[in-house]
Amino acid sequence: MSSDVPSHELIVAETRGAKSQCFAVRTRVFFDEQEFPISTEFDEHDDNPATGHILLRLTPSLTPIGTIRAIIPPGATYYKLTRLAVLKEYRQYRFGRALVHALHDWVRRHVAATQPDAATAEIACHSQLYVKGFYAKFGYEPVGEQFIEDGAPHQKMVLRLPLHPAA
Ligand SMILES: CC(C)(COP(=O)(O)OP(=O)(O)OC[C@H]1O[C@@H](n2cnc3c(N)ncnc32)[C@H](O)[C@@H]1OP(=O)(O)O)[C@@H](O)C(=O)NCCC(=O)NCCS
Repeated sequence: MSSDVPSHELIVAETRGAKSQCFAVRTRVFFDEQEFPISTEFDEHDDNPATGHILLRLTPSLTPIGTIRAIIPPGATYYKLTRLAVLKEYRQYRFGRALVHALHDWVRRHVAATQPDAATAEIACHSQLYVKGFYAKFGYEPVGEQFIEDGAPHQKMVLRLPLHPAA
C-alpha cells in the first residue's frame, strides 16, 4: 500500500450535490477511462430513494475521488454492490477497500431497520474479470459462468455477510 494516504472522508450521499459528485467519479472511471457506454452507466436505480450512494472525497477540498452504490433489486432478497470506482491517481491507498466496507455497513444498517432478526445478508456483484481477486479478499465467491455485460466479460460474485459478531 502507498504511504501518506490523502486526508479524506466517506459519507452516504444524500443531497443532490453529493450524488452528483458520485456520478462525476463514475463518468471519469467507467466512461472516460474504461469506455463503457454512457447510456448504460446511469439507470433507474440512481434516482431511487432506496439506493445507497457512498462518496469518498478529499478533505478539506471536498474533491470527489471514489464511490460505490448499494441497490436492492425489485423483489429481491439480496443486495447488489454496484458502481465501485476510485479515480486512477488515487488507487492503491486502500480506498477501494474502505468503500466496500462502507457499503457493508450501509447494508447492516438497512437490514437492522427492515429485518432486525436476520443473521446474515446476501450481497451480489457483477465483477469485471480483472477485479475478481479484489472482491475475493472480502469473501465474495464466484457463482455460475462468466457472462458479457455492457460489452465486457463479468463474473457474478456473492458474499454472505454476517450481521452480528456471533453470526
Ligand atoms: C477496483 C478498484 C476500486 C480498487 O481500488 P483501490 O483503491 O486501488 O484498491 P485498494 O487499494 O483498496 O485494494 C485493496 C486490496 O485489493 C488489492 N487489489 C486492488 N485491485 C485489485 C485487483 N484488480 N485484483 C486483485 N486485487 C486487487 C490491493 O492490492 C489490496 O490488497 P491488500 O489489502 O492485500 O494490500 C479500482 O481499481 C478501480 O476503481 N478500478 C476501476 C473501476 C472498476 O473496475 N471497478 C470495479 C467494477 S466491477
